[in-house]
Amino acid sequence: MSAATQNVYLPKPAVLERVVAEIPEVKTFYWHFEDDREQQEFHKFRPGQFAQISLFGVGEFPASLPSSPGEEETFFTIRKVGTCTQALDELQPGQKFAVRGPYGNGFPMEDYYGRNLVFVAGGIGMIPLRSCIVYALQHRKYYDRIQIFYGAKAPRELMYMPNLREWEHSAGVECYLTVDRPDASWTGNVGVVGSLFSKPGVSLAVDNSTVFVCGPPVMFRFVIRDLLAMGCEEKNIVSTLERYMKCGVGKCGHCCIGVAYVCVDGPVFTYQQIKKLGEEI
Ligand SMILES: Cc1cc2nc3c(=O)[nH]c(=O)nc-3n(C[C@H](O)[C@H](O)[C@H](O)COP(=O)(O)OP(=O)(O)OC[C@H]3O[C@@H](n4cnc5c(N)ncnc54)[C@H](O)[C@@H]3O)c2cc1C
Ligand code: FES
Repeated sequence: MSAATQNVYLPKPAVLERVVAEIPEVKTFYWHFEDDREQQEFHKFRPGQFAQISLFGVGEFPASLPSSPGEEETFFTIRKVGTCTQALDELQPGQKFAVRGPYGNGFPMEDYYGRNLVFVAGGIGMIPLRSCIVYALQHRKYYDRIQIFYGAKAPRELMYMPNLREWEHSAGVECYLTVDRPDASWTGNVGVVGSLFSKPGVSLAVDNSTVFVCGPPVMFRFVIRDLLAMGCEEKNIVSTLERYMKCGVGKCGHCCIGVAYVCVDGPVFTYQQIKKLGEEI
């Protein structure tokens, strides 16, 4: 079928490989397309893009791509919240589902060459940021400082633990973790993610920096307030917006905010753009 006659709504068959429990109610699903050519084509995605996941006879939902295009394996990290995510959760390795995408603008990682990258994540906000962090580390020489600030409610709610341990011990990264409620094993910082910015020995890179912020709305509001107070410019703060989506390709209007279609103009926006859209976070 030629590109011109391809049905954009047609999901491509995919096979579930294995499932890894991340944190309560959140699992990472490793998968591949049945057709190798689809797999190769899909791997041209950019950090920050998303895909539509189809569960046969159940429905479809959007999900971020937490892997980096340079990683061999493809996966989604999904929180079980409703009908489709429940159906995905019930799939066994070897069973099929379907995927279409990648969609959305993604983070323009090449535009940030020569800059400091500061990642600020709360809870499952680490899902879209993981892709950018891995991408940045795979292209380390193009960036200046790389800082990661990540907070969760409790130690058992910190996602991608093997990656966090690696980043904490990697020479090219400054990685700071915090939790709201420590358990007996926790020896790190206690407090909201913004409390890390003023920790002794921490100097958040403000000048020549792009700051990625993803997390729950309350965390976003407080972190933005702190970043602006420290001198970060609105145009240099980037985030992703989540909206109800149907088509994912700019046709149905379900994801509109003002003049923007989150599925094609986003999901990545600068804070300056988010404010212009009149979006309350
Ligand atoms: C661009 C994008 C990327 C996403 N990436 C991920 C991801 O990587 N991992 C992940 O787990 N989820 C992600 N989501 C959210 C995911 O698409 C929704 O949780 C989805 O609705 C789940 O489908 P469901 O049928 O299981 O739940 P539903 O039955 O549709 O809904 C379950 C509950 O969640 C609420 N809800 C659903 N979607 C939204 C929404 N967008 N905003 C507010 N409330 C909502 C419903 O009101 C309901 O209470 C993303 C969403 C977008 C738009
Ligand atoms: S989801 Fe249909 S226009 Fe964005």
